Amino acid sequence: MSLDKFVDALPLPSVIKAKGKHNGIPYHEVAMKQVQQKLHRDLPPTTVWGYNGLYPGPTFEVRRNHPILVKWENHLPFEHLLPVDRTVHGAEPDQPSVRTVVHLHGGRVRPENDGYPEAWFTKNFKNTGPKFLHEVYYYPNCQRPTTFWYHDHAVGITRLNVYAGLAGFYLIRDEAEEMLNLPRGKYEIPLVIQDRSFYLSGDRQGELFYPPLPEQPPPPPPPNPSVVPEFFGDTALVNGKVWPFLEVEPRKYRFRLLNGSNSRFYRLRLSSGQDFVQIGTDGGFLESPVVVLNRDGLLLAPGERADVIVDFSNHAGQQIILTNDAPTPFPTGSPDAPALPEIMQFLVREKVSKPDKSEIPSTLSCIERLDPNNVPVRQNFLLERTDEFHRLKLLLNDMEWDELPITETPYNGTVEVWELYNLTADTHPIHLHLVQFQILNRAPITVDENGNVIDVGTPVDPDPNERGWKDIVRANPAEVTRIIARFGPFTGIYPWHCHILEHEDHEMMRPYEVLDNPNFDPTQVIQGQCPDDSFTQCFDCLPDCWDDSFHDESSDESSD
Ligand code: C2O
Ligand code: CU
Ligand code: CU
Repeated sequence: MSLDKFVDALPLPSVIKAKGKHNGIPYHEVAMKQVQQKLHRDLPPTTVWGYNGLYPGPTFEVRRNHPILVKWENHLPFEHLLPVDRTVHGAEPDQPSVRTVVHLHGGRVRPENDGYPEAWFTKNFKNTGPKFLHEVYYYPNCQRPTTFWYHDHAVGITRLNVYAGLAGFYLIRDEAEEMLNLPRGKYEIPLVIQDRSFYLSGDRQGELFYPPLPEQPPPPPPPNPSVVPEFFGDTALVNGKVWPFLEVEPRKYRFRLLNGSNSRFYRLRLSSGQDFVQIGTDGGFLESPVVVLNRDGLLLAPGERADVIVDFSNHAGQQIILTNDAPTPFPTGSPDAPALPEIMQFLVREKVSKPDKSEIPSTLSCIERLDPNNVPVRQNFLLERTDEFHRLKLLLNDMEWDELPITETPYNGTVEVWELYNLTADTHPIHLHLVQFQILNRAPITVDENGNVIDVGTPVDPDPNERGWKDIVRANPAEVTRIIARFGPFTGIYPWHCHILEHEDHEMMRPYEVLDNPNFDPTQVIQGQCPDDSFTQCFDCLPDCWDDSFHDESSDESSD
């Protein structure tokens, strides 16, 4: 059996509504549930995990500087849907099989609301991880409008929880964005692209398949189940449907693209030969729109987002396919990994229902260029090692997730350059929590047989569509990738990691700590910082933020 393409309409995730208010702040409850969901016309319903029983989860639509509260609840079964490797950190045999914790990817939030991998909880909060602090998360939304996503982050099983369906969109909006007159309403559509595999026959027909073992495990035999080096599914899903189609009018659309896959990169094109006009990156609008030529394609690593405008107005009546030709694994490719040359289809109608009055403005936003001169430079190394079962294990700075001390320790309010020297064979999408950063450049490196960098070549500027705020950067093999960030405005411990979820679960993740800085007052305006990025907006609610009163009520004794 093979699945026909473009037979199901693209679903649009519903927008979540608040349950009520706590101290004037909208309060939400989201229950993670195991449900059966129809993912393709010819498949029986598939068992998935969904936020509020939906895969993908409901979309949050929030306003800049209007905080919300979310109580994330685990109503999942006690046994995992997918094979849990008990040799992976945090998933040892004495740990509950099903643990969850929610991370708002891209969000400027305090550490206790960030979804730390050890802040997990089980059904009804019966068991909680060592870093668990409270049940209700506070999201201040004190940052520029953009496309975030929320997804599970439980230590050692993130790849499985996200694969089972625990991911959704989180959109921040503001008045300035509305003034831009971009396509909106039904002409603004979020698209989360994921790859999955299914049992296509037998008594598990229609169920999600996730490999219990690597395809070519090194001898001696690995534990069973065993983490796999990377996962590549043979089926493309968009918004939880297999190879869907979308009927569009011959006019402009705004698509918020998210690569929600575990390991797969996408290089997207439209079969009509038309270009994308990219208006935003992970962290918000670019300074001005960037044309991503059809010839080049739009590259998206796991976790990355691109906010794009597609104009169908010259394509009335056409059937257009969103295609992908990214090598898998990226960038070298392997014949063993299934290709996914087609993602979804756009069916362009003959006529618009009303004239398209939307625009692509020539100026989109203010971007402060962070200055790399006279700031600390931190060298970081992406390395290939093997674990005790001879499995490939990728590390950051040759340290495992829970190894002490914490080595990356920027002071609150300070700017740092982080250099990512990639000594491995693959591109790793490196993600930092809390901050949005800028990509400075990438330079080729020469490494001797002992793994020492002996030469660094001429730096190359980032691509034009990478010159906005980013929270994920592609660190390519045999290159040093340089990024720059202003750390803060909150202090505490946050993860940074590779967003290939199989790598993240298998030690390619490290904590970093934003240290208290007595010389820095986050409530004071920083020279040069654009207003919509300002740190001060995160403290405008002081002295009586709900966040702080919340601390008094909770068991959290920490001070920050
Ligand atoms: Cu999207 Cu730490 O993750
Ligand atoms: Cu994140
Ligand atoms: Cu990686």
